[in-house]
Amino acid sequence: MQTFNAIKLAHSLLSARLSGAQCVVDATAGNGKDTLFLASSIPSNAIVWAFDIQEVALATTKKKLTAYHLEDKVHLILDSHARAADYVCELVDVAMFNLGYLPGVSHHIRTKPQSTVLALQEIVNLLSIGGLISVVAYPKYEAGQQEHHAVKEFLSGLPATHFTVGCWSMVNHTNDSPVLYVIEKGSEVREVFTSR
Ligand SMILES: C[S@@+](CC[C@H](N)C(=O)[O-])C[C@H]1O[C@@H](n2cnc3c(N)ncnc32)[C@H](O)[C@@H]1O
Repeated sequence: MQTFNAIKLAHSLLSARLSGAQCVVDATAGNGKDTLFLASSIPSNAIVWAFDIQEVALATTKKKLTAYHLEDKVHLILDSHARAADYVCELVDVAMFNLGYLPGVSHHIRTKPQSTVLALQEIVNLLSIGGLISVVAYPKYEAGQQEHHAVKEFLSGLPATHFTVGCWSMVNHTNDSPVLYVIEKGSEVREVFTSR
């Protein structure tokens, strides 16, 4: 049994920041596992904004939240995460992007490079000091590879004076195993770590 994977690692890296968070975004609600994790990890007066473009995803997410009496802590938004800034008008402390498609539904309805990068740009602009974003990309198939490439290119271009971007993947599995990125917004302009 695997004791950790990209998603479990994302949850554990975000946990400490979530305990003091006020505003949190789940950019891809899907079956609601991440939304449930976020809603159950934030203070009672904090809010999760959960986006998905599929009604079935939001219905499943709502059912999960209701089972744990957490539905009042989540705004479920049937819209693309690329329009996150139309809804979220405050600073974001934590955001999760679990890319790809909804298991059990058409694999053609999936996150796409252009809208994913737009959404990342929106959330990066809204990120609070000390805020964290996790992105799990799935380069197993061609569409996922293209999206992973676009995400990596965007994140690599974030200024190191303000953001730290880390990356994790399994090195003894195939090259196309899931890749986790974690973006942290620093407190102020700081010294950039360079090789000598
Ligand atoms: C891998 S699933 C997410 C898994 C989910 N976080 C969970 O815990 O079950 C990816 C989801 O992204 C959604 N999606 C695709 N494009 C989107 C977009 N532009 N904006 C928001 N959600 C999108 C899909 O409908 C799908 O439900």
